[in-house]
Amino acid sequence: MTKSGSAVKVLFVTTELAPFSKVGGLGDVAGSLPKALRQAGVDVRVVTPAWPGVLEKAAAAGLKTTTVKTKVYAAYDWRIHKAEVIKAEVKGVPTYFLKAEDYTGDMYPSQLNFWTASPFAVFCMQALELKDAIDWEPDIYHCHDWTSAFLPCALAWHRHYRQTGGKSIMTLHNVAYQGIFEPSPFLEASGLEPWSFSSSTMEFYGQVNLLKGGIVAASAVSTVSPTYANEIQTYESTRELSGILYQQRSKLRGILNGLDVKFWDPAGDKEIPAKFTVKDLKGKAACKRELLSRAGLDPNTEAPVIVCVSRLVEQKGFDMVFSAASQIAETGAKLLILGSGNDWIENGIMQASEAYPQSIKLFKGYDEPLSHLMYAGGDIFLMPSVFEPCGLSQMISMRYGTVPVVREVGGLRDTVFDVDRPEGGNGFTFQTCDAEGMMWALRRAVDRYNNDKTAWKKIMLEGMHEDFTWDKSAGLYKDMYEDLMQ
Ligand code: ADP
Ligand code: GLC
Repeated sequence: MTKSGSAVKVLFVTTELAPFSKVGGLGDVAGSLPKALRQAGVDVRVVTPAWPGVLEKAAAAGLKTTTVKTKVYAAYDWRIHKAEVIKAEVKGVPTYFLKAEDYTGDMYPSQLNFWTASPFAVFCMQALELKDAIDWEPDIYHCHDWTSAFLPCALAWHRHYRQTGGKSIMTLHNVAYQGIFEPSPFLEASGLEPWSFSSSTMEFYGQVNLLKGGIVAASAVSTVSPTYANEIQTYESTRELSGILYQQRSKLRGILNGLDVKFWDPAGDKEIPAKFTVKDLKGKAACKRELLSRAGLDPNTEAPVIVCVSRLVEQKGFDMVFSAASQIAETGAKLLILGSGNDWIENGIMQASEAYPQSIKLFKGYDEPLSHLMYAGGDIFLMPSVFEPCGLSQMISMRYGTVPVVREVGGLRDTVFDVDRPEGGNGFTFQTCDAEGMMWALRRAVDRYNNDKTAWKKIMLEGMHEDFTWDKSAGLYKDMYEDLMQ
C-alpha cells in the first residue's frame, strides 16, 4: 500500500518475456512474477520490446491485442524515436509491447557498442514516456539486468528525466553481463549530464557500464537469491564491480526466484507423452522411453538418464562435463544435453558424444517442447555451474522428479540440499569447481539410483514436494516496493 492506502503501481521494464521472447531465466521470471505480484495486491504492469516474431507468437497464443491510440516518443541521438504501443492481457497482467524500428534487429547483440546498445537506451526512455500514452503513472520502475539499466540512470542523470521524479529498482539476474561499451558518442547522444560519467557513477575503466550506473542510480537493488547477494560483494565473484556492490549493500536484497508452477507441471504438461504426479509416477517411465528414443538410444535401458537443459556458456561449467566424458561413460549412465551457445563448448560436447556415442548425446539448439521432455524423462539433472545467480532449471527438474546434481553456488546452494546431510535433502551437491568434484557427486547419484530404488524414490518425492511457487518471494518484493513508498 502507498501512504494514501492505494496499491503500489509498478512498471516491470524487461527485454525478455516468456513465452514471447525468452532466452533464459529472465524471460521466465518476467513471465511469471508479475502475475504473483498482482495476486499479492500490487498494481503491476509490464512493458517490453516487440522484438521480431514477438507479436506473431502472441497472436499464435491467441492473445487479444489492441493498439493504444497515443504513440510514445523518445529523444535520443538527435532523433525522435517513435513506438506504437500494443496492449494485451498476459495471465491477467496488463502488458505493453513497444513496436518500433529500434527493435527490428537481434535481441542480444554479439558485439556491444554505441549502435547496438542504443535500442536498449531508447527502450528505457520509451518506458518512461509510456505513462502519458496509457494514462497510468507508476510509482516504481522495476528494471532487470543491464538491458534496462539505462532507466535508473536516466531518472538520476538525464537532462529531462531527472526532473520528472520516479523511483526505480534494479534487479540483478546476472552480474556477468554489464552493458559495457565506448563512451563516445553515447554520452552526447543519450542526453545524460556530463557528470554522470564518473568513477562513482557509470564510468568503468574508461568505458560506459550501464549496469554499474543502474546499481548506483536505483532507489533499491535486488538479486535473485540470498547467497548470490552475498557472493557478488566479493572480488572473487564479480571482480571490479564487487566494490560498488559492497558499497551499495545497504540497498541490496536477495530474493529467491520462483516458478510458474502451473506451466511447469508434470500433471498437466501438454508437451510430454504421459503425465505423472507425486501419487502416481508411472507416466515418468513413458517419458524416459520417449526421450531415449528421440536420442537414438535403447528406450528400455535400465541405466539412469542424466539430462542438462542449458545455455552453453562458461557460467554453466560444461568444460567439467566434457573433460569428464570418459568417467561419465564408465558409470554406465546416459547423458543427454539440450543447449546452444559458445562454439568451443558445443564442440567439446560434440567431441565427447562422438567418442562415446552410446553414452553422450547433444541436442543442439533452443527447443522449448524438447526441454519439457528432458525434465520429465530424465532421472538426474546435472548443473555444475561455475556461478549461478539463482537457476530455475534445477527447480523445474525437481518438479518433474528428476534429481539435481549441482555445484553449491549462488541460488543452487539455496535450493538444492545434499541427501547425505544428517537431515537429508533433495539432491546431490559438490563444492570444488572441477571435474573431480562434479564426478564425486554424480557417482553418488548414479550409485544411489542403481542400488537403492527406495531411497531414490524418496529423494524424487522430496524435490516434487518442494514449494517453488512465487508466493513467498512475491511478498518480499511487495515489502521492497512498500519500503520505497514510505
Ligand atoms: P539462465 O537464465 O542462466 O539461462 P535458468 O536456470 O535461470 O538459467 O533458466 C534457464 C531457462 O531457460 C529454463 O527455463 C530452461 O528450461 C530454459 N532453457 C535453457 N536452454 C534451453 C534450450 N536449449 N532449450 C529450451 N529451453 C532452454
Ligand atoms: C539469469 C541467471 C539465472 C537466473 C535467471 C533468472 O539468467 O543466470 O541463474 O535464474 O537469470 O533470474
